[in-house]
Amino acid sequence: MKKKHFQRLIKDKLKGYHLFVLSNREPYIHNWNEDRIECIRPASGLTIALDPMMRACGGAWIAHGSGTADRDTVDNNQKVRVPPEDPQYDLKRVWLSKEEEEGYYYGFSNEALWPLCHIAYTRPVFRLSDWEYYKKVNYLFAEAILEEIGNERPLIFIQDYHFALLPRIIKERRPDALTVQFWHIPWPNPEAFRICPWKKELLEGLLGNNLLGFHIRYHCNNFIDTVDRELEARPDRERSSIVYKGKTTYVRHFPISIDFDAIDESTRKREVEEETKRLKTKYHLFDKIIGVGVDRLDYTKGIPEKFRAIDFFLDQNPEYKKRFVYIQLGAPSREHIPSYKQINDEIDESVERINWKHRTEHWSPILFLREHIPFLSMLAFYKMSNFCMVSSLHDGMNLVAKEYIAAKTDSDGVLILSRFTGASRELNEALLVNPYAADEFAQTIKEAIEMTPEEVSRRMKKLREIVRERNIYRWANQILTKAIQIS
Ligand code: F6P
Repeated sequence: MKKKHFQRLIKDKLKGYHLFVLSNREPYIHNWNEDRIECIRPASGLTIALDPMMRACGGAWIAHGSGTADRDTVDNNQKVRVPPEDPQYDLKRVWLSKEEEEGYYYGFSNEALWPLCHIAYTRPVFRLSDWEYYKKVNYLFAEAILEEIGNERPLIFIQDYHFALLPRIIKERRPDALTVQFWHIPWPNPEAFRICPWKKELLEGLLGNNLLGFHIRYHCNNFIDTVDRELEARPDRERSSIVYKGKTTYVRHFPISIDFDAIDESTRKREVEEETKRLKTKYHLFDKIIGVGVDRLDYTKGIPEKFRAIDFFLDQNPEYKKRFVYIQLGAPSREHIPSYKQINDEIDESVERINWKHRTEHWSPILFLREHIPFLSMLAFYKMSNFCMVSSLHDGMNLVAKEYIAAKTDSDGVLILSRFTGASRELNEALLVNPYAADEFAQTIKEAIEMTPEEVSRRMKKLREIVRERNIYRWANQILTKAIQIS
């Protein structure tokens, strides 16, 4: 679906509604850099996906103000117009104390719910104090949104696992609000979910929604099964809905996507071509077979598993030594949490060990860049690469896979994709792997490198057709249309 088409359709459909988006992470962060304020875009699939929708629809986005210069850039209502270069919607910032951020974001959201929902064998930590902060911050955000709501009927589009309690809180105060929530991470099976001490409160909170979205049908089914097991509710599997205390919540899958055309266009710019040359020169990449990976540094992303596969690949195919480089771009994430410190140490240790084992005087197989990479450079890395590896151990969708496809304007790259991502359900022409199976993974790297240019192009063209059509505008149109239809 084209952006213009979406804009026309949605303006009409949203008549009589005022759209509010709510997420923890803000789409634009203002930071002090010495005596200058700079605006960055976070490494967050969610914000990158929703920003084009907001640009098209207008409205207000409410999020945690986490930048060092955020307070210096808002007006008296805590708002700033964004994007800075071409303002099209309001970003309203909510301020959290250090203790609130610690308990609600690092604690309950990311040490309890994140590992609970991702089956990556990291144990959730449930602390009562974190739970108390989680509740408090859900109320804080509810207040911020209720302040904004005028006489028009609000359509409140809540994002993710940080706000499971929010829909019910809002509904108690504004029963006329149409509340829709999209859960960007997997929903586990009832067996896994039952260990959460506050499972009933979380489920009751989520059932305050009129519509609850997941990426894939499997997560919808898991959610319905979980409610069936934990609450006195009436699930209707035929209609994919749940009646609880007389109110209906529809549960549907909407696979999220990206702004294909915007990435495609940006990649064709001369600046990307120039950046490609600059990076190739800087890292001695001319005449190399290049693999690339872009991830937040998170234990669910399977980064050590990629390195293990590269190690196996070079053991089994020594003829590729000196001819092959794998570039891993890693954006630091949630660094206060012990399991994130651990994964960072593990990554450092394995890069060092594998590079030491295979290196020659002027060559090492893995180039690991732990930094927040500017968008332009990321496109340049995609452009120069022969293949991209997405190896999540579990992932709701994974938008890097789709970004890579959009950036491959010459259809000259292979996507290696974990079977445990939501994206693998749609992207059949990728080479699907089990990242835990190092042998199979290494074999797949070889297959990607040795694939004929015709086959590479055939597969990538098909992938590009899929993502071009199933883009973020189609996603937004489907979810908002469904919401309005059931209201
Ligand atoms: O995709 C899941 C998600 O938690 C998003 O909600 C978020 O934007 C992204 O991962 C990055 O995480 P964080 O906002 O905690 O840096």
